Amino acid sequence: MNRRIYMDYSATTPVDPQVVEAMQPYWSDVFGNTSSAHAWGQEAAAALERAREQTARLLGCRPSEIAFTASGTEADNLALRGIAWAARRSGRGNHIITTPIEHHAVEATVEQLHHLFGFDLTIVPVDGHGVVDPDAIRRAIRPDTVLVSVMTASNEMGTVQPIPEIAAVCREHGVFFHTDAVQAAGRMDLNVEHLGVDLLALSAHKFYGPKGVGLLYVRRGIALVPAITGGGHEGGRRPGTVNVAGIVGMATALALAEATREDEAARLTRLRDRLIAGVLETIPDSCLTGHPTRRLPHLASFAFRGVEGASVVIALDLEGIAASSGAACSEGEARPSPVLEAMGLPPEWAIGALRLSLGRQNTEADVDAVLEVLPSVIARLRAEA
Ligand SMILES: Cc1ncc(COP(=O)(O)O)c(C=O)c1O
Repeated sequence: MNRRIYMDYSATTPVDPQVVEAMQPYWSDVFGNTSSAHAWGQEAAAALERAREQTARLLGCRPSEIAFTASGTEADNLALRGIAWAARRSGRGNHIITTPIEHHAVEATVEQLHHLFGFDLTIVPVDGHGVVDPDAIRRAIRPDTVLVSVMTASNEMGTVQPIPEIAAVCREHGVFFHTDAVQAAGRMDLNVEHLGVDLLALSAHKFYGPKGVGLLYVRRGIALVPAITGGGHEGGRRPGTVNVAGIVGMATALALAEATREDEAARLTRLRDRLIAGVLETIPDSCLTGHPTRRLPHLASFAFRGVEGASVVIALDLEGIAASSGAACSEGEARPSPVLEAMGLPPEWAIGALRLSLGRQNTEADVDAVLEVLPSVIARLRAEA
């Protein structure tokens, strides 16, 4: 069996050849340390600042409002811990609001701020489609609230949140608003003025850039206590010698993704909807998870009653198809996805989560091939259970 179909673009994407080419000079030709005063360093520093300006133009912000990091996870950590610790330092407040559907990068960080640093935490519930109600955020805000964090779009089921509306609520109450936009980059408009956010995290490897590079947009005037300590890189927000090649790659990848975003989103939406319709028509006891229309253009996510998502992923892998499951598996025992449970899905459904995320290389033939294989995979797993 020679078929190999990659449908896990939400996990990571291949690096665009044009991105590889743009990064090429910065490995061993222009290799200086951006902090060095000599010509080698200054050449690297100039490339870094060009990448920062290019990125700022794409996000609709000022170059000084961008701090490059070593991942999306690190950008989220810097935002949450940075704001919380700055608030602690100034005595401004002690309360953080988030949702039950955040990526671990946010979830584990707010949990640590709560358990280890004594911040109060409110987890605002989501509806059956995984949508956060801006009025629920409004009701949760207290006089001592310092930060709200709501992801732009879900990595697990693709639901897109009403970010501008939540941002307006936060602004009304003078509370900083962070969004994890890692899954949304290259797939939605991420102009920070349109979104109205104060902090926004991105990760290059989700939009055909290199792994190990991310950024945090920090609205001017917002003080952050750096999550890691060291030198004065990135305006004192993120110490550590700067990854020039990676950052140039990320800026190039974002520019390329933005240039084709609308056409590619329309193409992927057609493929996604074909996939969704095909699965729901042919597989009994299946449902779409997340919002039916307010969802990322490339992401189809399902639950299959009584089937373990992890087993579906393995069975598809044997067929040459890469997919992913929302359910965590520990010591051989599958557990329901906490995100799907937070949306009210019963455990016998939430255990059977499957995410198929499409990308540049996928075609209609790929969708049809998956539709040919998946019904028999589910039927077989159900028969074996
Ligand atoms: C929503 C979301 N946030 C954060 C991350 C973490 O990004 P990184 O892989 O760069 O650490 C991911 C990656 O899966 C993600 O999907």
